Amino acid sequence: MKKVLKKEFLELLLCVVTLSMLLSCKQSSLIDKKEYSNEELYRPNFHFTPKKAWMNDPNGMFYYNGYYHLYFQHYPDSTVWGPMHWGHAISTDMVTWTEKPIAIYPDEKGYIFSGSAVVDLQNTSGFGSLKNPPIVAMFTYHNPEKEKAKAPGVQSQGIAYSLNEGLTWTKYKSNPVIEFPSMKDFRDPKMTWDNIHKQWLMVLAAGDKTMFYGSKNLKDWELLSDFGKNIGAHGGVWECPDFFPMLVEGSDEYKWVLLLSINPGGPNGGSATQYFVGDFDGKTFKLDESFSKDINQQKGLWIDYGRDNYAGVTWSNISETDGRKLFMGWMSNWNYAQKVPTQKWRSSMTMARELKLIKEDNHYRISSLPVRELQNYVAKTIKKETLIIKDKKTVLIDKSLVDLTKLDIQFTLKNLKKDVYTFSFSNGFKNTISFGINKKENYFFIDRRESGDLSFSDVFAKQISKAPFTKDFDKIDVRVIVDKTSIEVFYNNGETVMTEIFFPEKPMETFAVTKENFEFTIENLTINQLNFN
Ligand code: FRU
Repeated sequence: MKKVLKKEFLELLLCVVTLSMLLSCKQSSLIDKKEYSNEELYRPNFHFTPKKAWMNDPNGMFYYNGYYHLYFQHYPDSTVWGPMHWGHAISTDMVTWTEKPIAIYPDEKGYIFSGSAVVDLQNTSGFGSLKNPPIVAMFTYHNPEKEKAKAPGVQSQGIAYSLNEGLTWTKYKSNPVIEFPSMKDFRDPKMTWDNIHKQWLMVLAAGDKTMFYGSKNLKDWELLSDFGKNIGAHGGVWECPDFFPMLVEGSDEYKWVLLLSINPGGPNGGSATQYFVGDFDGKTFKLDESFSKDINQQKGLWIDYGRDNYAGVTWSNISETDGRKLFMGWMSNWNYAQKVPTQKWRSSMTMARELKLIKEDNHYRISSLPVRELQNYVAKTIKKETLIIKDKKTVLIDKSLVDLTKLDIQFTLKNLKKDVYTFSFSNGFKNTISFGINKKENYFFIDRRESGDLSFSDVFAKQISKAPFTKDFDKIDVRVIVDKTSIEVFYNNGETVMTEIFFPEKPMETFAVTKENFEFTIENLTINQLNFN
């Protein structure tokens, strides 16, 4: 009898609890959470973000068996930087990503800092077999105890291998494989198969220079040379290099390209990635002479002049038939990355991009554009052939026609004069993110000074970001990839790129252009609505 009563009482209690839960659900649905919860407001529609917690640099990217793998610096227990793990995500097209379980955990030797991975097709390491080639990763061990004790050897390089396409990893028993105890900053190894000199190559950042290593088996590494002291930008520590040969577009000439991230010292403050073009004889990298002049004149040449593209590197094991150089960067900046106003997660990656090496009048430049796979997500296209812009302000599109939080916009500008051309995304809360061309003072810009929440950092929106013109022009093509909280602007087929993030109080609603004096023409305006459902 007692038992039955107890059961009835419990059932009643359950009913009351369920009813009150239902009521509270009903109540909260009156509030439009979508409009007011930061989590919904700020999480990108299509740029990769971790489900939860902290993320920085992309790591260990390789392609194998139909999947692009992306690992990333990850601290799963907090939304700020901490003991580093390698998080993992996979994609069949570098546009939409599926997060997988954490791939590599820190251990008694240290945190797992940035690094790379290669597919060892010939099983040179002996970790796998020809039938099941091992994937070999190299990362930096960062030892926090040695760091605290100011002892030598804080950073060394370790390797790990995977026999199941990068899902789980076994650390090599004889780690570390490379040490340099006297070097305090000695990290971020990027490996490549050098098919020209038939060797495994590795480049890492060592203070104010890079060091190149060669290997036959991915386990024993020989120091080949170093590069970079007093060359290029040195406003901060060198990090996350990448090194590979590239064919000059439209020719059979090839050059070696070195990507090099630097923090601080970027062209608009904080973190950014510069590049170098030259020749490599299998041991030593020598800067191209005309390129050397260019970087002295331009104070460095940068993959991206915006403030939010850092530590970017390329995918390994892309097939020869594909032949692309595919790149992705971390879409943030150490100046404020740990303070941006997201709650469950922090930071996203840039759109995956294809890099090209172009040569014009003996000047080498790296261009980048979003990967072509993005086209598969175009749900609707709005086109306007020729628009002669006479008014001071012209609205080009608004939310009655498209969702402005997932767009790929392309157009050509013609008849540009000494004027300022400003393209802006705005919302009813007077938040504006704008980009454009200042032909009076010869620079491209992004202006996020009124883009929404700026309260988290003094430097986030202190001034506009600028990219210098490389030559004069009166016509230029422009492409803009817009997500909820980022814009990536590509000028002149990606020769000059600017990427920045922003945190509007509600999604952007209109896209407009302003100019000061002269009329000009927008040709072939193509507004692609993207859809990822
Ligand atoms: C670059 C970087 C790397 C390092 C990693 C640590 O953003 O500082 O040099 O390996 O982040 O998370």
